[in-house]
Amino acid sequence: MIERIMRLKQERDAVILAHNYQRPEIQDIADFVGDSLALAIQASETDADVILFCGVDFMAESAAILNPDKMVLIPDTDARCPMAAMITEQKLIEMKRTYPDALVVCYVNTSASVKAESDICCTSANAVEVVNSLDCEEVIFVPDKNLALYAARFTDKKVMPWDGYCPTHHQILASDITDAKKRHPDAEVLVHPECRPETIDLADGVYGTEGMIRHVRASRSDEFIIGTESGMLHRLEREFPEKRFYAVSDYTICPPMKMVTLLEVVRSLENLEHVVTIPEDVQKKAKDALDRMLEVKRES
Ligand code: 13P
Ligand code: SF4
Repeated sequence: MIERIMRLKQERDAVILAHNYQRPEIQDIADFVGDSLALAIQASETDADVILFCGVDFMAESAAILNPDKMVLIPDTDARCPMAAMITEQKLIEMKRTYPDALVVCYVNTSASVKAESDICCTSANAVEVVNSLDCEEVIFVPDKNLALYAARFTDKKVMPWDGYCPTHHQILASDITDAKKRHPDAEVLVHPECRPETIDLADGVYGTEGMIRHVRASRSDEFIIGTESGMLHRLEREFPEKRFYAVSDYTICPPMKMVTLLEVVRSLENLEHVVTIPEDVQKKAKDALDRMLEVKRES
């Protein structure tokens, strides 16, 4: 299957982008593996005719929004982020009516139509910078309440969160951190900002997935407890074979992220399926929100 994928990739002039949470064998065949921000940047800069996106719905949609003239494929249309489904365009419009002076920051984990109703997007890598870049006192932040509360720690603005959350990260409890620390007392604890505030309070570092890579590269520690989706362990082990990484619990899995398989990648390239399409009016407005984000620098 890997040989077929490599051949098809050339025939189709395709680039394969994969998120850090994808299955190990998918990460290994990808041209580029990264976080939401890095993948959006790659998608905005690629010369390839076809972008095959191994990730969840909103990530492939972002690639399509940024590249209206390219073919963007998602191998499995059931790979949908449940947090992105927690806010709709209609609900956001209602919230905007309630807070007419606020600007809207939407996490990239949202549908294209929610992005189109937002002033600017953010990812876990730049949420604080994006919020602080705005010329306003009040910010509506959708859909992740945990990321909103995390960003609120670093700004004087009033941040009003939508009541959404990531089921995978929200279930990492403070007790999971204390238990993991008992098992690995010398390890540094890194968690994703989609975790609950009380879980974040116990961590040594709070980073999006690429931020974790940069932190481990710079750290003198040899051991790390990783408070994010399990696919991240493969990425870290590949980059740093000399260091040890421990999952915070056995349950930190995002089921939609695991849906894409090698066979689906073969079928996707062979049949040019499933093409991601965004209505033109939505695409244009959503692109404005993504472009504004891409102008704001990433966390250091
Ligand atoms: P990153 O952008 O940090 O990779 O996070 C994406 C995501 O979906 C986290 O659950
Ligand atoms: Fe969505 Fe959470 Fe999965 Fe990320 S880990 S794609 S936020 S459900």
